[in-house]
Amino acid sequence: MKSLLRYIILSLISSTTALTFHHKPSSTDYHANAGVLQYVNPLIGTRGYDPNDLGGMIPSVSPPFGMTRWTPQTRENFISQVPYNDRDRRMHGFQATHQPAIWIGENGHVTLMPGLGDEIQPLFQHRGLAFRKEDERSTPYVYEVTLDADSGGEFGWNLTEQATASAHVGHLRVDFRDTKERQPYFIIQASRLNWTGHVEIHPEAQEVSGSNSQRQEYLLGPDKPESFRLYFVSRFSAPFTSHGVSHAGDLYRGQRYIEDKFVGAYVTFDKSVQRVEVRTGVSYVSVEQARKNLDIDIPDGTAFETTVENVKSAWLERLGRINISGVNDTDADHDPRTIFYTGLFHALQYPSDYSEPTTSSEGGMRRFYSGYTDSVHEADDSYYQSWSIWDTYRAEHSLLTIFAPERVNSMMRSLLRIFDWSGRLPLWNNMIENNEMIATHVDAVIANALVRGFDDFDVSRAWDAVYVDAYVPPDNDTDLLYYSREPNTPYECRAGLTSYLEHGWVDNDRWAESASRTLDYSFDDFAAAVVAEHAGDLEHAKELRERSQNYKKLWNPETQFMQARNANGTWANESWGWTEGDKWIYTLNVMHDVGGLASLFKGGKKAMKARMDEYFTGGHNMHSNEPSHHAPYLYSAIGYPADAARQIRELAWENYNATASGLSGNEDLGQMSAWYVLSALGFYPVNPASDEYVVGTPFFDEVEILLPPGPGDDGKEHTLVISAPGAGTEGRAYVKSLKVDGEDIHRPMLKHGQVVKARRIEFEMSDEPTSWGQEGTV
Ligand SMILES: *[C@@H]1O[C@H](CO)[C@@H](O)[C@H](O)[C@H]1NC(C)=O
Ligand SMILES: *[C@@H]1O[C@H](CO)[C@@H](O)[C@H](O)[C@H]1NC(C)=O
Ligand SMILES: *[C@@H]1O[C@H](CO)[C@@H](O)[C@H](O)[C@H]1NC(C)=O
Ligand SMILES: *[C@@H]1O[C@H](CO)[C@@H](O)[C@H](O)[C@H]1NC(C)=O
Ligand SMILES: *[C@@H]1O[C@H](CO)[C@@H](O)[C@H](O)[C@H]1NC(C)=O
Ligand SMILES: *[C@@H]1O[C@H](CO)[C@@H](O)[C@H](O)[C@H]1NC(C)=O
Ligand SMILES: *[C@@H]1O[C@H](CO)[C@@H](O)[C@H](O)[C@H]1NC(C)=O
Ligand SMILES: *[C@@H]1O[C@H](CO)[C@@H](O)[C@H](O)[C@H]1NC(C)=O
Repeated sequence: MKSLLRYIILSLISSTTALTFHHKPSSTDYHANAGVLQYVNPLIGTRGYDPNDLGGMIPSVSPPFGMTRWTPQTRENFISQVPYNDRDRRMHGFQATHQPAIWIGENGHVTLMPGLGDEIQPLFQHRGLAFRKEDERSTPYVYEVTLDADSGGEFGWNLTEQATASAHVGHLRVDFRDTKERQPYFIIQASRLNWTGHVEIHPEAQEVSGSNSQRQEYLLGPDKPESFRLYFVSRFSAPFTSHGVSHAGDLYRGQRYIEDKFVGAYVTFDKSVQRVEVRTGVSYVSVEQARKNLDIDIPDGTAFETTVENVKSAWLERLGRINISGVNDTDADHDPRTIFYTGLFHALQYPSDYSEPTTSSEGGMRRFYSGYTDSVHEADDSYYQSWSIWDTYRAEHSLLTIFAPERVNSMMRSLLRIFDWSGRLPLWNNMIENNEMIATHVDAVIANALVRGFDDFDVSRAWDAVYVDAYVPPDNDTDLLYYSREPNTPYECRAGLTSYLEHGWVDNDRWAESASRTLDYSFDDFAAAVVAEHAGDLEHAKELRERSQNYKKLWNPETQFMQARNANGTWANESWGWTEGDKWIYTLNVMHDVGGLASLFKGGKKAMKARMDEYFTGGHNMHSNEPSHHAPYLYSAIGYPADAARQIRELAWENYNATASGLSGNEDLGQMSAWYVLSALGFYPVNPASDEYVVGTPFFDEVEILLPPGPGDDGKEHTLVISAPGAGTEGRAYVKSLKVDGEDIHRPMLKHGQVVKARRIEFEMSDEPTSWGQEGTV
């Protein structure tokens, strides 16, 4: 904070020289009333070296589920790199990004960067300005940084930037210092090397508009949306003194328009201008729609502070519903409140609402571009995109049913839109289907909603869609391997379903990732059965429930592990056939029938417990990736809740902290954090296609949640208190008793309905393992 102090002193000195500088790092008012947002640290998950070992998060500003996230750009992002890393010390711009995760591609971006001087630098590698970590402040509602306009020498604090945003518009404010000698400017990069974009400058309107066609995952999946473009309109607060366009590193002074690869624009301002604000509306519909988004979200005359307050209120409306007391906060780097609120902040960004507003004179409908039809649609509804379902089906969607229930039905309708457009539900939707990871766990996402009472969508259509997942192999199923990221394949869905339907497993000598697929498909069969039941198709439900036992076909009684099988029934090499895991991890991958899994072990639950001990002590658990997430809770399920509690506490400690490197693995659209948030409350959805949560160990003495109204609540909200005296302050990890609204719970299980209808969930905690919950849940 030392340099910040020095900065303020400098500001005071300059204001006494009667110049109207506005370069205090921030108007501190909006930080003063931040409520629980003071605990959110968007830098968590932004630091790391290997893309596998960091959260892949960015310190972005956007409201909950916002379409566009505005982030400081310290890197040019691509698949396996996001635009920001906490290790970097140079700022290259503010980027409107639609890259939902580190291993996923960007879908149209635009970047703005201010500068000072006559040598305008359009290129990423030349325009970076140094900053210091102590001059950077990241919150969910504003990002602030001070930049040095000269590389090298004494640090300059020449530009202070503040960035905030609405769902479709970025609002930047830049204060320039020492501008007497140097002219302030902005560059706007529309497209990068090899990608077509356009820019058009409208000096009279103080606007720059444009588009960008870059979709980094163009090779994946069958959809090739030809007319895909991200459009933008940037409107500046000051008139331009000059302008031009850029092509690669070359500037074309005075030109107003260019359409080509690698293009941008620049605008300059009078040297007397000390503050420039720019609002940038983005759209997938058109330039006109981008302008409309700008005028609707952040109309002319809106103070920067108002935009900040709006996005802040949107986050407080969600996060402010939760009060936590009784935490062990002796170590700031492990402050569980910060991890919790930041986790919820992450989890409430996905999937994102890609619908754009219209005015009431246009009917007030929402508009959204579909990459599946390559056209624009209109509806009185949101349209959610960015579905990383192999990750998020586990806990993220259950979390959303508790903390954002008002969006769940619309999310389900979005899935069904995708089915209507493409004939398939999404596996990994990033504008289009990119076929990343495996299986049709969307079946479980829909089952998860239905068993929790969400049914404001066409349930029989949902069953039609899930039926196709369960019964119709992908196109060219027997010709293709469907290996990970195989380019230009049809919709992958359940690749290898042809052999699974024949004999109950995916042949390892025929398809990639066969063993993981087999286990996942048998879980998906269970989920599909749930959907069939809700749609009244009991015959198929029965058949699918039987099929959901197929996991047993991979059980090798000799080795007591799951193992891939060939078409002729022989066992394949035990290390083959796994997706991001191995036989240790995948042997525990039976979420829907934990009792059935235990009975496979010679020695039943006891033997399974012994295997789990070996699994954890032998270092086979990998919490940094999703297949391990439910594993510790299996202890509770089979009657060893104390072992679950011990493991969960340890995993939470080792894999999450309040520093920039505080996520041991990729956030994966909220799944990593959903594990923490639900675990901290004391339960986790081991089988997300059911309404059951398995009890673990609450982390806090008390949590109060003003639950948003869900199905059956008639729009009324109520407060749930989860108390667990000593769980946080005394470190008591073991449950001794559990009551829901006064009623004793003996098995370590809570139903979703119990959780969201309850007023009080009371854990009695102990320092020592207890005999509570040893019946297990299965
Ligand atoms: C940045 O600030 C430093 C220190 O005040 C000053 O020496 C330098 O000239 C400034 N650079 C620009 C480009 O204004
Ligand atoms: C850009 O295109 C050129 C020519 O087709 C190609 O050689 C180069 O690898 C491409 N670069 C990138 C970063 O895509
Ligand atoms: C799928 O099969 C059709 C018909 O045999 C063929 O034309 C097409 O090229 C195949 N596609 C792929 C991706 O293999
Ligand atoms: C079964 O299939 C595997 C893999 O294709 C092959 O190596 C093996 O020889 C076959 N065994 C029999 C008995 O056919
Ligand atoms: C199984 O595969 C692994 C890795 O490919 C290899 O090291 C090992 O020798 C194989 N085992 C057998 C029995 O073929
Ligand atoms: C935070 O977690 C990361 C990743 O697990 C770890 O590398 C780092 O050392 C942890 N920091 C602290 C202070 O525990
Ligand atoms: C959380 O605390 C604030 C401030 O004490 C209070 O106004 C609010 O009602 C509390 N919320 C809940 C859910 O208890
Ligand atoms: C609180 O956390 C610290 C580490 O930050 C730990 O050493 C201490 O044992 C914890 N206290 C309790 C009561 O759990």
